Amino acid sequence: MLTEIDHIAIAVRDLDAAIDWYRDALGAQVAHREVAEHDGVEEAMLSVAESYVQLISATRDDSPVAKFLDKRGEGLHHVGYRVPDCAAALEAMVKAGATPIDDAPRPGSRNTTIAFIHPKGSFGTLIELVEEPEAEGSGRP
Ligand code: CO
Repeated sequence: MLTEIDHIAIAVRDLDAAIDWYRDALGAQVAHREVAEHDGVEEAMLSVAESYVQLISATRDDSPVAKFLDKRGEGLHHVGYRVPDCAAALEAMVKAGATPIDDAPRPGSRNTTIAFIHPKGSFGTLIELVEEPEAEGSGRP
């Protein structure tokens, strides 16, 4: 069911400072940057081979990421797993007893299709299922 770790998401307070630090300390480059106003989040995707580190920060005080930062501080926020079929993966996880946050797949950043699974019942980790858009000639299986 899983084809790759799509991204490891890390919540940070200052997105630009975190981008600079990842560039200076690890040589990681920003591949994509996007604001999802609906979720109150700004993200920067840093390339690591075929996967990403996703730095996320809040765009408003009442967003879920802002609440996470208030409660838990900066650090690991969720793990995104790449799957060929988000709906099928979501159904399989729910069948296995996982608690969905999204009842059905929805649009994510980079034209992906995503669904979140609650950390409760998933051994404490927020899980995101990520289906990539149909890309011609991406070379990926
Ligand atoms: Co994510």
